[in-house]
Amino acid sequence: MRIVFTKDYEEMSLHAAKIVAGQLYLKPNSVLGLATGSTPLAMYRELIRMNRENGLDFSETVTFNLDEYIGLGQEDENSYYYYMYHNFFNHINIRQSNIHIPSGLPENVEEECQKYDDLIAQSGGIDLQILGIGQNGHIGFNEPDIKFEATTHMVKLDDDTIKANARFFATVEEVPIHALSMGIKTIMHARKILLLANGAAKAEALFRTLYGGITPETPASILQLHQDVTVIVEEEAARLL
Ligand code: GLP
Repeated sequence: MRIVFTKDYEEMSLHAAKIVAGQLYLKPNSVLGLATGSTPLAMYRELIRMNRENGLDFSETVTFNLDEYIGLGQEDENSYYYYMYHNFFNHINIRQSNIHIPSGLPENVEEECQKYDDLIAQSGGIDLQILGIGQNGHIGFNEPDIKFEATTHMVKLDDDTIKANARFFATVEEVPIHALSMGIKTIMHARKILLLANGAAKAEALFRTLYGGITPETPASILQLHQDVTVIVEEEAARLL
């Protein structure tokens, strides 16, 4: 693992955007795995700027999002679908048909998960996967568990995660209890992985991820076994490293 220490959120985000841009300059039809949450927001802003001002081209780029809340439709402001279009896709020259996000209202959960994994496989697998990290060490919505889940699956969210994500909702009761998430095997099959972490609340999870035992109790710890992970951290998240 490469660990890049940056001074603050802006520098972390800029560094991440440059890596994504580098990937797309080398391979314009790259398959990107994308994350939501507050962490990658400034990275998306910088990529939008590069698209407008520096000719960074997304016209051939294919994307797969990590996860989606079950029960939230595309127009719901708290759905990850809404987040992605609002914060990124609406502002770049990506083709709608190249965007993939698990459905929050699947008719059949198993079929939706299988379809999502099939689509990832058909597009040749993920070239560069962007990850944030939950305060409990989750990646995507792979919550601490007694085993690693391999493929796209339905998750019951941890109370910790529901509490942490309640800040985006009017009340904690509105936070969905279930989500669909890409699995650990799919994430680990990505050719390159970029993990971003900022803020003191992530310090402990990050320490366990990088230096603790590899265990499904800290899902992100599996990344120690990947051959090409870059972790970009700012000062507060790096406090324990
Ligand atoms: C969310 C998402 C993750 C994200 C993480 C951290 O619940 N499912 O993909 O990386 O939690 O979120 P944030 O960046 O807001 O701290």
